[in-house]
Order: sequence, then structure tokens, then C-alpha cells
Amino acid sequence: MNDVNTVECSSLFFRRGGREVLRDVSFTLPEGALLGLLGHNGAGKSTLIKLILGLLRPASGTLTVLGGAPGEKPLEVGYLPENVSFYDAMTVQEHLDYFAGLKGVCASRVKELTDELGLGVVLRQRLGQCSKGQRQRLGLAQALLSKPRLLMLDEPTVGLDPAASALMYRELSDLRDSGCSVLVCTHELALVEPYLDRVLLLADGECRGSGTLENLREQAALPALFSGPGIEKALSDPRLAPMARGRRLAVSEGRVSEVVRILTTDHACYDFQLRKADLGMIFAHYVLNVPLEKL
Ligand SMILES: Nc1ncnc2c1ncn2[C@@H]1O[C@H](COP(=O)(O)OP(=O)(O)O)[C@@H](O)[C@H]1O
Ligand SMILES: [Mg+2]
Repeated sequence: MNDVNTVECSSLFFRRGGREVLRDVSFTLPEGALLGLLGHNGAGKSTLIKLILGLLRPASGTLTVLGGAPGEKPLEVGYLPENVSFYDAMTVQEHLDYFAGLKGVCASRVKELTDELGLGVVLRQRLGQCSKGQRQRLGLAQALLSKPRLLMLDEPTVGLDPAASALMYRELSDLRDSGCSVLVCTHELALVEPYLDRVLLLADGECRGSGTLENLREQAALPALFSGPGIEKALSDPRLAPMARGRRLAVSEGRVSEVVRILTTDHACYDFQLRKADLGMIFAHYVLNVPLEKL
């Protein structure tokens, strides 16, 4: 990651049918970062992606993509739509050749990508006979054909099993490591969390938070979580009981050392795990408005 921003978005408004679908959305996607675009259904995620692609125009605000206007550099932006449509009667190879022709990409790049994404074994297979996972790999391949500097994927892992989803996220993080800026929209918070550099949290068309997970934890003073068998025995301690959430303890950062002391000194409890608020908690707090004491 460096100081250049691939996407800069400031006070963006978008209206549709007299309704504000996006209101005052601001965020940046630094070059070489992996950004998770998160929000409930209908929050405005796909709309924002289409604005960045230049397929829709904002009512107001500024949006700079790769230093220019959205849609100005189509070959430098790869896109995997939410519902990508392929032709069931055409083979994987025929699809790749077709997309390569549209983008003016040579055959050697097609070969390179099929090797990288493990599509070699299904090249002669018709799309009608491909699994959901294979279709999504083809979707990813078409998005990567022109070696884009910005890659956007709209819910790329819907319908994939957890292993295939994790593989997709690992591939996205490899692309990020090679310098590509990646924006991925997903609901699989736990699976994607390890790979994200930043998140943008949308709810009802508004930006509820953006930045690194650490920024978001700090801004809302989200609690750390103690869990494990040792904790359960100590839950009835009147000093700890108010922090109990089921079998866990949710503890504000400032009180973590005090709780560790109570557990170890007063309860001889060493059998616990301590971790920071996870993306699920961040989402619950910022997007769903769950108050800290209910997290
Ligand atoms: N083609 C459309 N015409 C009218 N309203 C739309 C259209 N597409 C989306 N919307 C509305 O815009 C809002 C945001 O939609 P969308 O960006 O698809 O949300 P998300 O991707 O977060 O689920 C929703 O309220 C949705 O109903
Ligand atoms: Mg959507």
C-alpha cells in the first residue's frame, strides 16, 4: 500500500425514482488495498459499485477513479457482477476467447489466467455442466483478463461452499499483494475478515463508518472478548457479571488488564482466550446499531 488512492469519493449523492439511494458517502480506496464494502441488503452497495464503474452518474459529490472520471479507463477496471450471465451451451474456453476478443487481450494472457486460476481442466466443459464454483472462477478470469489496476467484485462467493469462498478471498488478497486495488462486497464477514485492509460500512445509503478495523474498533470503543472454559466459572463474580455476554466477557479496552488480574489472581483462571472485537461485532454496531452493552 502507498499514498496514492485508486478511488476517492467525497460527499456522493445518488437518487433513483425520487429517492436518495446514496447520501453523503465519502471514502478512499488506497492503491494496493483490499476494501470490504459491507452493508445490509438494499444498503446501496451495488449502486456504489456501478457509480465507480461509471454505469450510473451521481447527483452530486466527487468521485475519482484511477485519477480520472469513472468509466474513463474501462480496461484498467475489472468487474465481477452479482449475477454474471454466461451461455450454458458455450464452453469455458469459448467464453474466455469471447471476452478476450472484446477486451483486445491476446491468447497468451488467456492461457496464463487459466493456469493461475486452475481452469485448465474445465476448458472444454460447457457452462451448463459447470459448478457454481467453476462459474465464479470463470467470472474472476474475465474480470482479470486485461490485468486491471482496480478489481471490483459484487458478492462473488454467494452459493460457494466455505472452502471455495476462502479460496476466492485468498486469491483476492494475492492480487492485492501484487499491487491491484480490490473492492469486494460480501456478507461473509468471518471468512473475509483476515484479508481486509479496510472496510466501508453502508446502511440505508449512508456511510456509517470507514477505515481499518483498528480505526473502527477505536472510534466506537468496541470491547475485547474473553472466552473459554475458565471464564464460565468466574462469570458469577459481581465485578465480572455486568460484562457477561452469554459465556463470554465483553470488556472495554481500558479494563482488560484489570479483568485479567481478577481472573488469574482471584479465580486462578488461566484457561481463556482474549481477542479484539471481530468484524461481526463491528458490523453489528455500525450497521445494525447494536449498542455496546448488547454486543
Ligand atoms: N434499478 C433500480 N431501480 C430502482 N431502485 C433500485 C434499482 N436498483 C436498486 N434500487 C434500490 O436502491 C437501493 C440500493 O440497492 P442496491 O445498491 O442494489 O443495494 P445492495 O447492493 O446494498 O443490496 C435499494 O433500495 C434498491 O431497492
Ligand atoms: Mg447488491
